[in-house]
Amino acid sequence: MTRKSVKDYIRTIVDFPHEGIMFRDVTTLFADPRGFRMTIDQMLHPFAGEEIDKVVGLEARGFIIGGAIAHQLTLGFVPIRKKGKLPGATLSQAYQLEYGEAVMEIHDDAIQPGERVLVVDDLLATGGTAAAGIRLIERLGGEIVGCSFIIDLPELGGRKVLEDMGMDVHVLCE
Ligand code: PRP
Ligand code: ADE
Repeated sequence: MTRKSVKDYIRTIVDFPHEGIMFRDVTTLFADPRGFRMTIDQMLHPFAGEEIDKVVGLEARGFIIGGAIAHQLTLGFVPIRKKGKLPGATLSQAYQLEYGEAVMEIHDDAIQPGERVLVVDDLLATGGTAAAGIRLIERLGGEIVGCSFIIDLPELGGRKVLEDMGMDVHVLCE
């Protein structure tokens, strides 16, 4: 029997949220107990033994992954959210999406200078979201240990954007 890989659990929804977008839907991966466990284990694997102080997840699916990873490592979790969602004082960073423009925010006391941070999200497309998150963490004085994603869409160039920023980028599938 051949066991399913992470990629096998991901569903594609055509023309969501706009015509022409092939939306890679990880809800089917998260809904499967083996799929979810495998995802968290594989996202962490390259960072085993690294000194990490905090896990940062990017809205929205990065919260699901980041919560599980932070729990697994017994670390704190910090959300980076779309503009206007965080209740306390924030830093903001504008960024481009594959389909639009947005602003990401972090609480200005969420990361202490010198803290070592692992950044997680479900998908890397243009890299705009992750780059904005990285800038926010660095503006607070955090050091990025690495960035871990389930999916990379290589034709959109996000991995190169992050690598050009000096990031160690780990993805489970393309
Ligand atoms: C998706 C995905 C990443 C981002 C990647 O989130 O979860 O966060 O797009 O795209 P990029 O590399 O081009 O920036 P989305 O913007 O759909 O927001 P959501 O998770 O809040 O639905
Ligand atoms: N975010 C940006 N592009 C995406 C895609 N094709 N599928 C899922 N999330 C995305």
